[in-house]
Amino acid sequence: MGKCKFNENWLDNPVFAPWLVPVKDVHEARCKLCKKYFKLGTMGVKAVESHMQSAKHKSVDKTTSISHFCSAPACTSAAPSQCKMESDLTEMKIGFIGAGNMAFGIAQGILMSGKVNRENVKVSAPSSNNLGRFQCKMESDLTEMKIGFIGAGNMAFGIAQGILMSGKVNPENVKVSAPSSNNLGRFQELGVAVTHSNSEVVTGSRLVFMAVKPHLVPTVLCEIAPFVTQQHVIVSVAAGITLATLEGLLPPDSVVMRLMPNLPCMVQEGALLFSRGSRARPEDGSLLRGLLTPCGLVEEGPETWIDAHTGLSGSGVAFVYLFAEALAEGGVKMGMPSALAHRIAAQTVLGAGRLLRDSGKHPAQLRSDVCTPGGTTIFGLHELERGGLRATTMGAVEAATERARELGKK
Ligand SMILES: NC(=O)c1ccc[n+]([C@@H]2O[C@H](COP(=O)([O-])OP(=O)(O)OC[C@H]3O[C@@H](n4cnc5c(N)ncnc54)[C@H](OP(=O)(O)O)[C@@H]3O)[C@@H](O)[C@H]2O)c1
Repeated sequence: MGKCKFNENWLDNPVFAPWLVPVKDVHEARCKLCKKYFKLGTMGVKAVESHMQSAKHKSVDKTTSISHFCSAPACTSAAPSQCKMESDLTEMKIGFIGAGNMAFGIAQGILMSGKVNRENVKVSAPSSNNLGRFQCKMESDLTEMKIGFIGAGNMAFGIAQGILMSGKVNPENVKVSAPSSNNLGRFQELGVAVTHSNSEVVTGSRLVFMAVKPHLVPTVLCEIAPFVTQQHVIVSVAAGITLATLEGLLPPDSVVMRLMPNLPCMVQEGALLFSRGSRARPEDGSLLRGLLTPCGLVEEGPETWIDAHTGLSGSGVAFVYLFAEALAEGGVKMGMPSALAHRIAAQTVLGAGRLLRDSGKHPAQLRSDVCTPGGTTIFGLHELERGGLRATTMGAVEAATERARELGKK
């Protein structure tokens, strides 16, 4: 086997995606568990795999197992005997008697190599307890996965658009339901099937996004509960609706996750945080992360962070719009035409955001970089401090978080 290099698709690889995060761009990465830095452009896949096998990494990583991943063209030029062996592997029927952790680790490894056809693998076990994760992995080819949306509003559309634009999900495998046809047309334009029946979405999907307004969630969950099985993954985006409420209204053993996205998912620049319910496994989280990565930044955390994320990022988008509007109006006050001032304000917010994210610098550092002593910016910043912008913004995040908590208790 040649020296396999990473290609740009490694972000989608479920072996690396849960723990390897890009630094600046996809050519540099850091292990988010033990912080080791990798220059992917110059090193091979083997070096990263060796890190996965190191005692230091294993001591913190409970989610991934070792497999060989190689998709660089250099690796396809194997000796004829090796090619023969590899073609034998794609056709080989492989069975596992027992569906425990060891079988899962081996199955995951051989499937990730891409050399074994997942349809040729069969697993047996007396109970269904451990079989779900094999089915999940075998379906991890997202193009085959059936995905449903209950609710056809802005959030459902933003997520659907993001996952479809990635090209990983086949639009024919996506179905969305809503009581009226008001919002269904734009989904049809994406090639997605539409219906007025929520139960049809559940029976025809494996992963279902619950994207109705929070006050409707209990009614809709009671309606779909008879159709939800242990094979489903139900992902709620409803603000304030807790995992306990979701699990309490669905059949026992339902796999539930809570996701808090924000509106920029519509342009694949969302900030999404999810929490797993008591029956959702790490691999369900990996599946959701893999699916949503094209929508923006996807992070997993405890449920207690979800309300803070709602305040910071869900509502935070509106805080940024208010600031952009005020910037533009400042320009208008100083004599600039309104349309031009708004275009420049939007670009200023976008550019500042990208620089902040991509430089990895603290915002205070970047702010100080544009502050010439005695210059224009420090005079402007003084005005913002005098108006209490910093304290007001912190108060806004706190108020929105508290409101999300309150809604969750209703
Ligand atoms: N918007 C955001 O920025 C944001 C951010 C984070 C989380 N969220 C969460 O996302 C969820 C949806 O918000 P949204 O902004 O997308 O709302 P929205 O635009 O008002 O859309 C709600 C959708 O639910 C549909 N609906 C109403 N009753 C239904 C029922 N019984 N069964 C199935 N569908 C039903 C509506 O149908 P019609 O099309 O027929 O009206 C509509 O398509 C909310 O729970 C919210 O908390 C939103």
